[in-house]
Amino acid sequence: MTITCTEDFRQLYKARVPKMFYDYAESGSYSESTFRRNESDFARLNIRQRVGVDISEIDTSARMAGEAAALPVAFAPVGMLGIQNIGGEIKVAKAAQQFGVPFILSTMSIASVEEVAEATGAPFWFQLYVVKDREFVHDLIHRAKAAGCSQLVVTMDLAMLGQRHKDVKNGLSIKPGLKNLINIATKPRWAYDMVTGPKLSFGNVVGHAKGVDDLASLLTWAAEMVDPALDWDDVAWICKEWGGPVILKGVMDVEDARIAADMGIETIVVSNHGGRQLDGAGSSISWLPQIADAVGDRVELILDSGVRTGMDIFRARALGASGVLLGRAMVYALGAMGQPGIEKLLTLLEKELRTTMGLAGKTRAGDIGRSDVYRA
Ligand code: FNR
Repeated sequence: MTITCTEDFRQLYKARVPKMFYDYAESGSYSESTFRRNESDFARLNIRQRVGVDISEIDTSARMAGEAAALPVAFAPVGMLGIQNIGGEIKVAKAAQQFGVPFILSTMSIASVEEVAEATGAPFWFQLYVVKDREFVHDLIHRAKAAGCSQLVVTMDLAMLGQRHKDVKNGLSIKPGLKNLINIATKPRWAYDMVTGPKLSFGNVVGHAKGVDDLASLLTWAAEMVDPALDWDDVAWICKEWGGPVILKGVMDVEDARIAADMGIETIVVSNHGGRQLDGAGSSISWLPQIADAVGDRVELILDSGVRTGMDIFRARALGASGVLLGRAMVYALGAMGQPGIEKLLTLLEKELRTTMGLAGKTRAGDIGRSDVYRA
């Protein structure tokens, strides 16, 4: 199969990984209305076509959270990347490093923050879940600091768990077993090993979460640890522990964005968790202009949820984002082809963005503005 776009990666990914791992990524909470809306709202945003501009030199580089990036793109924190492809976190981190875009390691990763630091030898960003065990949270903040992470991304929209029906039906939240694997013989060898072979280590929680030694126990621990008491005082405490501003992920409302700005937060990720949490929430791209109007002069905005193409990256920039996070697009490419898949994904997106910018008459990512898009 010749891969020409993110959708091709999705199809190859679907064919190559066990169904329960595909479903874990390719699903939203409850009716999946927000999951679907994230993508369809992007498609409804038209881009102005311009002509007569010298577009022989196009610069797609950007700055995200004060750091230089070759593209206005970073890899979103995604839990258990290592089940999609063995060593998944390290493979994505390395491809990101080579290309020059940020990688965000999830708290719920298979590889630990120390392992990723050791393998890449370069700073990356760390995503923090604020769980009930605050001693664990405290330690994790300091481990991320010691590992040289350059940004701490605090996820705010998981103070309660949205349910994905497919995960329950597949038994992902119980014990993974061969009965859930359809056509295992046609899957790559690593997919088989993942379920039957060596135990997964869950690097960031080992030693802190008693009895966590396989996928089932990790998920049980994580569900019990979700903290409904997470509030703005916790954010202030985390900023103090981290010793600098943090990035808040999962802000989807003007009022919340104002509170964050008043607290001195410098960067927000406008995100509905890829439609995995509040089903019925609006798409993040539909909220971006209002949030940009309210706090855009004080806070840098990054957007995620539904970004699949270079055209989407252009649309997000036009409505006020400095850049985007890629969640599922990364999972598809990693699950389909491992590290070369991630490298190819970045190359394809760079080309799509470059072409979109050119045909819209823009030669620098910084020149893309609100007048470059309009509602269909
Ligand atoms: C996520 N997301 C997520 N977010 C986070 O802060 N910590 C995490 O561990 C995870 N885990 C996770 C697993 C999977 C399989 C998915 C698909 C998503 C949310 C993620 O960071 C991001 O917000 C969304 O993926 C963005 O939407 P798209 O790009 O997937 O549409």
